[in-house]
Amino acid sequence: MKILIINGPNLNLLGTREPDIYGSRTFESYLIELREMLAGDEVEYYQSNHEGDIIDALHNADCDGIILNAGAYTHTSLAIADAIKAIQIPVIEVHISNVASRETIRHTSLIAPVCQGTIAGFGLNSYFLAAQAIIMG
Ligand code: DQA
Repeated sequence: MKILIINGPNLNLLGTREPDIYGSRTFESYLIELREMLAGDEVEYYQSNHEGDIIDALHNADCDGIILNAGAYTHTSLAIADAIKAIQIPVIEVHISNVASRETIRHTSLIAPVCQGTIAGFGLNSYFLAAQAIIMG
């Protein structure tokens, strides 16, 4: 299976950004472990702080499934939701934190209705769980 992980705004700062919420590990360090755990599968990674770039990455994706942590765009971006709707590849919404237990604004996801499902609250392990969902179909 070919899996594409797309991380949105501020997720390039994992490791130093609000470590009490997001942990103190960089995504690059986690990615090495994730690729080892998913040894028979190919894991591509893309991060952008820009909405249009995330939309382009969705349009240009060539893989079996996409793991998308859209960061704060989750709660605001109809354009990203439309892009997910426009492609044929299944997209799994992922969050490191349990957004349901945080501020009310984070309880709304504009992308959830157009994603296959949502995994949130398991720290970086949310990405592994999402990959399992793609691999298991
Ligand atoms: C996040 C949750 C979002 O509300 C927040 O804006 C993020 C990270 C998460 O992974 O927990 O940037 O998507």
